[in-house]
Amino acid sequence: MDTVEFDPKGDERGWLIALENLKEVPFEIRRVYYIFGTKSDFRRGKHAHRDLTQLAVCVAGSCRFMLDDGKVRREYHLNRNSLGLVIGPMVWREMYDFSQDCVLLVLASKSYIESDYMRDRTEFDKLVQSLTLNKHEASK
Ligand code: TYD
Repeated sequence: MDTVEFDPKGDERGWLIALENLKEVPFEIRRVYYIFGTKSDFRRGKHAHRDLTQLAVCVAGSCRFMLDDGKVRREYHLNRNSLGLVIGPMVWREMYDFSQDCVLLVLASKSYIESDYMRDRTEFDKLVQSLTLNKHEASK
């Protein structure tokens, strides 16, 4: 999970930001979706993915992200359309504090696969724990 700052191209007409596969976007884009009209008192997300990388940008308005890989928890304020947030696999995410005008664009490395979702926080924590243990064992 990391932020990336895009380079806006401006002239007398206004601004443009371009995102390309394997350049600004660190994967091949397989899916695009956008979230809008979110009520400010609702949290979205509340899940992790087993095998999916995403890049999130507030192309209008702002929102906050809480990302937690089971060890480190971080908060991000996506408050400009030149700021991207890359979210790798096995990261619990929650989005909240959506401004009324927020349009959250998400680029994803894979198609929508419901079985890739982990929506149970306890199940996620258990999987992180077992993956950490396996890694530790393998390095012995
Ligand atoms: P959901 O995963 O609940 O959104 P969030 O992570 O923002 O809380 O998705 C809402 C609905 O949209 C749900 O019925 C699944 C559907 N959906 C798709 O059909 N395709 C997609 O790419 C995504 C992300 C969701």
